Amino acid sequence: MHNVEPLVALRGITKSFPGILANDRVDFDVYPGEIHALLGENGAGKSTLVKVLYGIHQADTGTIQFGDRAVQIRSPHDARRLGIGMVFQQFTLIPALSVVENVALFLPHLPAVLDHGVIARRIEEVSGRYGLAVDPWAPAWRLSVGEQQKVEILKLLLARSRVLILDEPTRVLVPHEIDGLFRVLAGLREHGYAVVFITHKLPEVLTCADRITVMRGGTVAGTLVRAEATERGLVGLMFGTAWPEEGSSRREPIRESARPLLELREVDTSGDGVSLRQITLTIAPGEIVGVAGVSGNGQRELGDVILGLTQTAGGKKIIHGQDATRWSVDRIRRSGVAFVPEDPLRMLIVPPLSVLENMALADTRKYARHVGLTVDWIAVRRDLEQSTRRLALEMLPPAVPAGTLSGGNVQRLSLVRELSIDPRLIVALYPTRGLDVRGATAARHLLLAMRNRGAGELLISEDLGELFSMSDRLIVLYRGRIVGEARPKDTTVYEIGRLMTGGVAGG
Ligand SMILES: Nc1ncnc2c1ncn2[C@@H]1O[C@H](COP(=O)(O)OP(=O)(O)OP(=O)(O)O)[C@@H](O)[C@H]1O
Ligand SMILES: [Mg+2]
Repeated sequence: MHNVEPLVALRGITKSFPGILANDRVDFDVYPGEIHALLGENGAGKSTLVKVLYGIHQADTGTIQFGDRAVQIRSPHDARRLGIGMVFQQFTLIPALSVVENVALFLPHLPAVLDHGVIARRIEEVSGRYGLAVDPWAPAWRLSVGEQQKVEILKLLLARSRVLILDEPTRVLVPHEIDGLFRVLAGLREHGYAVVFITHKLPEVLTCADRITVMRGGTVAGTLVRAEATERGLVGLMFGTAWPEEGSSRREPIRESARPLLELREVDTSGDGVSLRQITLTIAPGEIVGVAGVSGNGQRELGDVILGLTQTAGGKKIIHGQDATRWSVDRIRRSGVAFVPEDPLRMLIVPPLSVLENMALADTRKYARHVGLTVDWIAVRRDLEQSTRRLALEMLPPAVPAGTLSGGNVQRLSLVRELSIDPRLIVALYPTRGLDVRGATAARHLLLAMRNRGAGELLISEDLGELFSMSDRLIVLYRGRIVGEARPKDTTVYEIGRLMTGGVAGG
């Protein structure tokens, strides 16, 4: 199908880490003017492969051909010189600096005196061409996640990258931002750029990719053009098995009379970030309350205030019928509250500690032996295995430092750990983010099963499909306030979407 030469050709790329073969003789081509999606289950080796291409990792063996010559890419600097750029999951903008200043820092060969006006004009020119509109003079801290991502892409374009690598770019975007990103990528394709993007969302792949490479266990399971691809076929390649059954999500009725597990009464917070205003909500046993909203509208603060990481500035918090407004985090957790945080590597998982050690931290009292002098590792391991089985996931390697796990496997560890304690109340922020299709399905099953056994859950998500299918009740969070509440069957995705972006109910 291609009568042009690939821009970049990777041949026989092998990369191992202690005890693991992350890439095993991988061949991968990138053509100009194509959007090439990279798919595969958690830990399949996708991030490793693009990091080899971007010079973060060096392959043990294999070659990289750039145009018609063999090249060595020993660092991101080498990659950028060749015109290969990468947008990371964690954006790298400096919050206090403006867009112009952030871009200027990234451009090579800066003139001694920066002319910010010139840079601003270049930003406007390029952003106009590709639909990447941002205010060049806005400070980075004021930008939404979607806008920050646009600046990251602009940086690469202004630095003359021809190959753009995006590792799970849609993970943190809301639906309309995802559409916007795909329009940008389509525009880049028209101008002969090559785009490599990693995702777990099959519908995205089928709408926007020209070619799809599926990885499994460090090898390439297949490369398809979009016309040959179907969801079912891709899942088969990803897992070597059929589509995971959605299973029955038969609902037990909520015991309306039961005492709520959690009540917030007119809770306010103040401090950095978004302040919560007059939050009143209850969660009953056997009930999932879904929180819809564009991230950054108070979701993190809501989780923090329930867990006691943030103090209330006003109002009351009642857990299991007791005034818990001033309880410590430790006391709240001990009362049977599990917390799946937005950013597990910052909040929950200690990167240098092993998977098993991180598991032990879930409940140090439970695992302490001899008055806390030693840890009952056998019990920890048993719980790790049991909880992993309940999530229908493969076992994570217990001895590996958690910081070296793949993105999705960090999320798995966070779920396995938090849901192992048989919580009565679960506060879950974006629990399926970064999980492959099978992992996400398993996580949703477990959360529903725990609900059916009587746990109460607060499910914070940007995935409206997930919220509508899981929640008994939905609330919408906008600028720190609850601006709407409905049962999924009495509302529509459209209505909730409008509230999420500041529209008025029924208007
Ligand atoms: N720096 C590292 N040190 C040790 N092991 C690593 C390192 N980076 C990755 N690995 C291991 O290599 C394997 C592949 O990881 P990689 O991050 O490439 O997976 P992935 O396909 O991107 O998965 P995900 O969808 O979860 O992001 C995993 O088993 C991971 O634990
Ligand atoms: Mg990854």
